[in-house]
Amino acid sequence: MIGRLNHVAIAVPDVEAAAVTYRDTLGARVGAPIALPEHGVTVVFVDTGNTKVELMQPLGQASPIAAFLDKNPSGGMHHVCYEVDDIIAARDRLKAAGARVLGDGNPKTGAHGKPVLFLHPKDFFGTLVELEQV
Ligand code: CO
Repeated sequence: MIGRLNHVAIAVPDVEAAAVTYRDTLGARVGAPIALPEHGVTVVFVDTGNTKVELMQPLGQASPIAAFLDKNPSGGMHHVCYEVDDIIAARDRLKAAGARVLGDGNPKTGAHGKPVLFLHPKDFFGTLVELEQV
């Protein structure tokens, strides 16, 4: 059901500083910071060729990653995102298997303008999983 790894998201306290580390220390190709107020984050995309890393800093008062950074003040891996062909079919299969879909269970438009869902980390070995229809 799941396809390729679309991205790994890493929550960071300072996305510009994180981008410099990725660019200068790791020698990665990094983009410019992009504010996504509707998602409560500012992101920098790191192109690793086979996938992407998304460095995310909280934006605004109700950022969905604020609590995560409170618990992990120096940053940490926040979620992995797998591609699916049909997000409704994927959701229904997961629910039938007993997996918990976060929120109201309906796909939302994600940071790339495509439908996404999040799955409860306790059902997937402590890792928050995002599914994105591509
Ligand atoms: Co994501």
